[in-house]
Amino acid sequence: MSILPPQAEKATYVERMFARIAPSYDRVNRIMTFGLDQPWRQYVVSAVAPPVNGCALDIGTGTGDFLPLLAAWMPDGIAVGVDFCVPMMHAGWPKLQMYSNVGRTASIRPGVTAFAGGDALQLPFPDNTFDTITTGFAMRNVTNIGAAFHEMWRVARPGACMACLEVARPQNPLLRLGHQFYFEQIVPWIGLLLSGDRSAYMYLPQSARAFPTPPVLAQMMRDAGWEYVTYKLLGMGSVAVHVGAKL
Ligand SMILES: C[S@@+](CC[C@H](N)C(=O)[O-])C[C@H]1O[C@@H](n2cnc3c(N)ncnc32)[C@H](O)[C@@H]1O
Repeated sequence: MSILPPQAEKATYVERMFARIAPSYDRVNRIMTFGLDQPWRQYVVSAVAPPVNGCALDIGTGTGDFLPLLAAWMPDGIAVGVDFCVPMMHAGWPKLQMYSNVGRTASIRPGVTAFAGGDALQLPFPDNTFDTITTGFAMRNVTNIGAAFHEMWRVARPGACMACLEVARPQNPLLRLGHQFYFEQIVPWIGLLLSGDRSAYMYLPQSARAFPTPPVLAQMMRDAGWEYVTYKLLGMGSVAVHVGAKL
């Protein structure tokens, strides 16, 4: 049974769904990915290597998991997370507070982190603003992936790097079968147990199935203006990290 919404209703559906699961989002992510989601985000941030005094933007930031990782690279910089779901950013707020307090007591000077409300398809920032752009598990949820990649390109400065972390499907037939069983049969029950919301975790595998393959996504980035686009598969091919640059 497909629970994917019609295209015209997708943005509202997605915003409401994340608002419902926001309080348990981080916990479910850690458990469902066997704790691999943070190392994947670390990989993304090291792939774009933000400048120490730079300006970074994380799109579809949710609870802001990328922000402390970006800010750790940027002691004199600022990392901004943008999302159209306020409850997700609200759920992540204590995490940002804790990060800046721990940083201060450990005499590490953390970069500034901030949340901003906004739509990935119409970012509330001027052209050529950011040195670094990241996005994780958000492109599956936007109504127009090409337009979102182009918006990222618009707000990126010439010389900026961008990285996109998203789900993929393992190439090896056996792994692919195991991954499909886990994602489609087990994950919805983990979601139900930990967040009380089975449908949100049925949407996850179904939206992943409908998502472009890594080579197709790479071409969509190129079409949006990104250059030197490459990608790397992690987690036995269950996720892909695409990287590009704006010249
Ligand atoms: C699966 S969560 C990912 C959160 C975070 N990036 C992470 O790595 O865990 C997807 C996020 O994208 C946001 N999102 C989806 N479509 C969006 C849009 N058009 N504009 C802004 N945020 C959007 C959702 O609200 C949600 O918080």
